[in-house]
Amino acid sequence: MDVITAIEGRQSIRDFDASRAVSDDLIKSMLGTAARAPSGSNIQPWHVYVVRDELQRKITDACVERFLSGDEGEAEYHYYPRSWRQPYIGRRRETGFGLYGLLGIDKSDKAAVQGYRIRNYQFFGAPVGFFFTIDRDMEPGSWLDYGMFLQSLMLTARARGLETCAQAAFCPYHDSITPLINAPEQEMLVCGMSMGYPVAGSLINTYRTSRLTADAFTHFPS
Ligand SMILES: Cc1cc2nc3c(=O)[nH]c(=O)nc-3n(C[C@H](O)[C@H](O)[C@H](O)COP(=O)(O)O)c2cc1C
Repeated sequence: MDVITAIEGRQSIRDFDASRAVSDDLIKSMLGTAARAPSGSNIQPWHVYVVRDELQRKITDACVERFLSGDEGEAEYHYYPRSWRQPYIGRRRETGFGLYGLLGIDKSDKAAVQGYRIRNYQFFGAPVGFFFTIDRDMEPGSWLDYGMFLQSLMLTARARGLETCAQAAFCPYHDSITPLINAPEQEMLVCGMSMGYPVAGSLINTYRTSRLTADAFTHFPS
């Protein structure tokens, strides 16, 4: 697969075939490729925790239990602006409404919304979950590096016939997750990721988000 096809065809997949395992060797090989991502001074600030089987189920159970009890948790960093404004809130709404609309979920239908959100904690059925952490004393430059690593992993997965969904949904429950994965106290959870083979014909997997054209965000100052 060439790189343009890998980038343009990537989309978040939210329904994976739980019965198709991904071998340790393949996981290690993909991570080795992703680690070719650049980082300032080549400091490579990523730590990766791979979860499957029993541990993956324990993480799902811990998150679902908290979620169903009404405990929304608290992430250790702010992913989004503290105060939403246009144009970002509009883009966010378009994405959320588009996904719920496709699935026929009415936002006022609490049970349906809950059911959808729980799928996040179930890794959307994926046989492999990842948790990515960063040392707390790293600065924003290393978070830039991290994004490159994550995108490299998602593209490498595509080249191997796999798909992914990055997941910040796990961050509010970091205090349940990090002890289960044995991440040391000096590391902070950046996000999770589901990876696997998509379920063919799954409606949710047809969801394709829009993008601005380059003209809308590019300036050629003279
Ligand atoms: C760091 C990161 C965290 C994300 N967290 C979630 C998540 O928790 N749950 C989810 O369903 N999608 C999550 N997404 C997927 C985004 O919603 C998705 O990338 C965006 O809507 C664009 O769609 P696309 O990935 O299909 O191109 C996340 C994406 C990124 C990059």
